[in-house]
Amino acid sequence: MLKRIVVEGLSKDFTLHLQGGQEMSILSKIDMQVDAGECVVIHAPSGAGKSTLLRCLYANYRASSGSVNIWHKSDADDGGWVDVQSAPAQQVLAVRHSTLGFVTQFLRVIPRISTLDLVAEPLLMRGVEKQAAYEQAEELLSRLRIPKRLWQIPPATFSGGEQQRVNIARTMICDYPILLLDEPTASLDEANRATVIDMINAARERGAAVVGIFHDEVVRQALATRIFSIPAAVSLVAA
Ligand SMILES: Nc1ncnc2c1ncn2[C@@H]1O[C@H](COP(=O)(O)OP(=O)(O)OP(=O)(O)O)[C@@H](O)[C@H]1O
Ligand SMILES: [Mg+2]
Repeated sequence: MLKRIVVEGLSKDFTLHLQGGQEMSILSKIDMQVDAGECVVIHAPSGAGKSTLLRCLYANYRASSGSVNIWHKSDADDGGWVDVQSAPAQQVLAVRHSTLGFVTQFLRVIPRISTLDLVAEPLLMRGVEKQAAYEQAEELLSRLRIPKRLWQIPPATFSGGEQQRVNIARTMICDYPILLLDEPTASLDEANRATVIDMINAARERGAAVVGIFHDEVVRQALATRIFSIPAAVSLVAA
């Protein structure tokens, strides 16, 4: 199979400045590989470091040690491995732009930008023609049952579930080769949950490598091709 993510020896400690600089070890020497067409579900108790691991994969968090190699192909080359933990910021941004899609649990609302503009934006940034981008955005918002009357409004005042669906639409509008999903179905009703499950499975079937956190056993069953466990123990290490 085609490898898309190779994590080696990934550790993450947090320094607790209010506790006299005490170090808390959350992830310890994680090794993980994800192929194209897989949906790997990170499964561990609350607080074990699932979101921390996803943030390290997206290079939001700098790991204490280890590497996160991402298979990245830009328009200009045939592809190659980029260690997003050690790559320069410019290269990390390029990897996020064309390779890594990340659905966080909460939408980062941009003031005064309408829902439709927000969802179409990633396609426009890829140079997709305006009419085609907006047509796709409308199709996704309809599929995710966001009422038409809300499309021209910024999502700041939307309900939790509505914001989450806008967030999903904004990522799923691009065919990212890798999808990182942090509880994308957590506040959705059954019908929308089923729609999102279909979208994620479709992405996997077109060859996306998916890494996700799903609280709900039913969602895990419907999506996981493999479960990845991380140890629950959080240890304090000497500062
Ligand atoms: N920026 C940070 N600074 C200090 N501690 C942090 C930071 N981010 C996460 N932690 C700690 O790391 C631990 C793991 O957090 P994380 O959010 O990764 O857990 P999780 O497995 O996703 O839990 P949940 O299932 O509740 O979402 C928690 O104890 C949290 O307090
Ligand atoms: Mg979490």
